Amino acid sequence: MDAVDDPNAKLTVRQATKIYRTASGDLVAIDRCNLDVRAREIVSIVGPSGCGKTTLLWSMSGLHGLTAGEVRLDGKPITGPNPEIGMVFQDANLLPWRNLDSNIAFPFEIKGGKPDRAWVDHLMHRVGLDGFGAKMPRELSGGMQQRAALVRALSFKPSVLLMDEPFGALDSFTREEMNRLVEEIWMETPTTIVLITHSIEEAVFLSDRVVVMSPRPGRVASIHPVPFPRPRSIEIMTTREVFDLMTTIKLEIVGERKSLSAPKPAAPPSAALDRAAS
Ligand SMILES: Nc1ncnc2c1ncn2[C@@H]1O[C@H](COP(=O)(O)OP(=O)(O)O)[C@@H](O)[C@H]1O
Ligand SMILES: [Mg+2]
Repeated sequence: MDAVDDPNAKLTVRQATKIYRTASGDLVAIDRCNLDVRAREIVSIVGPSGCGKTTLLWSMSGLHGLTAGEVRLDGKPITGPNPEIGMVFQDANLLPWRNLDSNIAFPFEIKGGKPDRAWVDHLMHRVGLDGFGAKMPRELSGGMQQRAALVRALSFKPSVLLMDEPFGALDSFTREEMNRLVEEIWMETPTTIVLITHSIEEAVFLSDRVVVMSPRPGRVASIHPVPFPRPRSIEIMTTREVFDLMTTIKLEIVGERKSLSAPKPAAPPSAALDRAAS
């Protein structure tokens, strides 16, 4: 799907292509992906496992480079890690030998700095971790660890938050609680959020738009606007409109998966592949 430059775009992905060089040959993970994410928008990316969601997100973060194409933040190409961009992964990745306060301070220490204490205190309060700063990660539940990871990511005051299946390991009640928390924090301090999830319900609850990716090599197959007002209540999630939207997205992903297992006609190599090989 080709994108037209959106004047309000915060993140611009253009012809993003990533080829992994592996021992068994080249693997095209994403192929000419185009996407505009607007400032203060929440966009979810869904799609079959292995379709390149994480690869796309990492290229948005600057954590790895693309084989071809580019990602721009506020019009400037992203070429490496950027303090404007915060990340949350499925695993909270807290250092087990440091307490929560010291885990949150760690990325600042590496750069020889300190977090804004008042801001961190506010975030800890916001996520319900008041008084937990001295606790070690092992003393906390998975949900609490993930709240701490959210605080760590937001402690930098990033303008973009990238999340890769951040609540995928949590039970469904904790997950819903985290979804409401993210919406609340976002309504208070709107950042641009890109979220990968395998929960269509989570995608619809949180997003302004849901992006469906095709199987590998991943491309943007379709984009669904989610026009429901915020804050989104549990009642909204049980309406006919939401049900219909979730069904449409689900059927599309199943359809994409089927097309993955069906034999494909030989496709001519993409221009990007030619470039990468030369
Ligand atoms: N570092 C890597 N080296 C080689 N292949 C990789 C690497 N990372 C991911 N892949 C492959 O690229 C494809 C897309 O992976 P990924 O972006 O993790 O997909 P998703 O997040 O949608 O499950 C998969 O086939 C995966 O095995
Ligand atoms: Mg992934």
